[in-house]
Amino acid sequence: MIWEEIDTHAKEWVKEAGDRIRLSFEKTLNIESKSNANDLVTNIDKEIEQFFINKIRGVYPEHRIMGEEGFGDELNSLEGIVWLIDPIDGTMNFIHQQRNFAISIGVYENGIGQIGLIYDVAHDELYHAIRGKGAFINGKPIPLLKESTVKESIIALNATWVMENHRIDHHLLIPLVRDARGSRSYGTAALEMVYVATGRVDAYLSMRLSPWDFGAGAVIVEELGGVVTNLKGEKLNFLTQDSLLTANPGLHQEVLKNYLKIDQ
Ligand code: IPD
Ligand code: CA
Ligand code: CA
Ligand code: CA
Repeated sequence: MIWEEIDTHAKEWVKEAGDRIRLSFEKTLNIESKSNANDLVTNIDKEIEQFFINKIRGVYPEHRIMGEEGFGDELNSLEGIVWLIDPIDGTMNFIHQQRNFAISIGVYENGIGQIGLIYDVAHDELYHAIRGKGAFINGKPIPLLKESTVKESIIALNATWVMENHRIDHHLLIPLVRDARGSRSYGTAALEMVYVATGRVDAYLSMRLSPWDFGAGAVIVEELGGVVTNLKGEKLNFLTQDSLLTANPGLHQEVLKNYLKIDQ
């Protein structure tokens, strides 16, 4: 089967990339900023993206690649097989903490997620799913998501979204943070999505992410019965930036309806 074969290659490449990242802990990083002073990128982000692109092009020259650092293809559609690659999700954590970051790889066919791989390098934990075949952590099946209500949930989100900002009326989120059992900010969308998948948190939301941030996580969460939409409750299209709300179905509905005031 094509997906099993791609998955086997991808897993091998992800492990090799993880080894390279671990070796980089001993070396001095070259750090630059992108859109603003806190939007960071290192030589390792770039090297790892190029590593994946060379591997993929060597075996699957007809596949197309969207990578955060821009070494992939310019995509105007999701036709055919497309790889969504974030070589390091949580670059700020990678630089400051050497943990709480991950490699994130989603493989899509005509816009439908088929494979999701998220590798927590510091913990050597590989989360992965193939559509319809279950989701796994280091090869061990992850159980389906359990339902929860806001009152008994931990919600992951960045603290900045609860401050005044131009993307959302922050008055909507203050009651959510107040009513939830707890809130957490890990600074890595990919790991926050697998934390939803594994029940370590119950929901994750963000005002703005890119396809390489949520491409892999969406496959894993949906495989376990979770819901992945933007904050308007609409499906993501995986070609453009969007907001994100992911949770078990009941909690997803409760947050949309009672807090974000979206009636579906
Ligand atoms: C970032 C992280 C962060 C999220 C940002 C992303 P990067 O990814 O996922 O948690 O809040 O929006 O850009 O830049 O470290 O790959
Ligand atoms: Ca980045
Ligand atoms: Ca990212
Ligand atoms: Ca990144």
